[in-house]
Amino acid sequence: MSSMRAFTSLATPARRALLSSRNMRSIATYTTHSNATPDASNSTTAQKTHFGFRDVLESEKEQLVGKVFSNVAEKYDVMNDAMSGGVHRLWKDHFIRSMAPGPGTTLLDVAGGTGDIAMRFLDYCKNIHNDSSATVKLVDINPQMLKVGEQRFQSTPYANTNQVSFLVQNAEHLDDIPDESVDVYTIAFGIRNCTHVDRVVKEAYRVLKPGGRFMCLEFSQVENPVISKIYDFYSFDVIPALGQMIANDRESYKYLVESIRQFPPQPAFAKIIRDAGFSTVGKGWEDLTFGVAAIHSGFKL
Ligand SMILES: C[S@@+](CC[C@H](N)C(=O)[O-])C[C@H]1O[C@@H](n2cnc3c(N)ncnc32)[C@H](O)[C@@H]1O
Repeated sequence: MSSMRAFTSLATPARRALLSSRNMRSIATYTTHSNATPDASNSTTAQKTHFGFRDVLESEKEQLVGKVFSNVAEKYDVMNDAMSGGVHRLWKDHFIRSMAPGPGTTLLDVAGGTGDIAMRFLDYCKNIHNDSSATVKLVDINPQMLKVGEQRFQSTPYANTNQVSFLVQNAEHLDDIPDESVDVYTIAFGIRNCTHVDRVVKEAYRVLKPGGRFMCLEFSQVENPVISKIYDFYSFDVIPALGQMIANDRESYKYLVESIRQFPPQPAFAKIIRDAGFSTVGKGWEDLTFGVAAIHSGFKL
């Protein structure tokens, strides 16, 4: 039995103990990677990171994540609905309503994948302001995910307009995005897949105009012990099975679930955002569905 199989077959209390020990990692642990130099993997003290519950070299992670999203790209939208019972749509709608973009807003949607956020943003501007001057640049590291996104936009009013554009970019170094060039930066369910979360947030700070807003929608940590138990069962037993059934790919969905548990809890992530220079309102995040997901937000003042 592989170690991963062994993990999923652990009795729930043991699994929870392991999970909570992972969740107890300090804020310092989440920011340790920020001190790593990009070429550290070539040295004998190569930096390690996580890929789901596996420790891997930092230099390996990007390729492993790339493989996951190349595998799931075609079934990504269908699986999102199946896994969340459509709830991801409500979270994304709420995310855009919280942004409340005004006419002419320029949005950079990073790790934009198949375009859920970009589409909702343009729909909001059109439906609320009758505005067709708002623009979104959808960037993602994975060309296959972007291709599915581009195809989706073909059957919308935004096809063949300059309101939406697509670009392959790594969230950790947005080489083709100039300093202080966008009003709003979004990243939805993308940042936990990045090797250096702190570098992603610093890049967001760089590309935002003064007064601009960083917004992140990401799976997060559930505090309520009863909900948490149900959520663990659903995550570790149901989602990989759905992945197998619908996308013929258990492993990719196992990674996606595990990567959620590796992402910093809400206060630690809020600290990373503030450390990058952003000002937050109040604690800096809003829990959705008991903390299954959270919206973190910060302003570049
Ligand atoms: C779970 S999908 C989210 C897609 C979309 N934002 C949504 O909410 O449906 C995560 C996306 O992050 C992208 N991604 C992973 N690592 C990235 C990186 N370093 N830079 C940019 N995009 C990345 C993946 O290719 C994938 O499209």
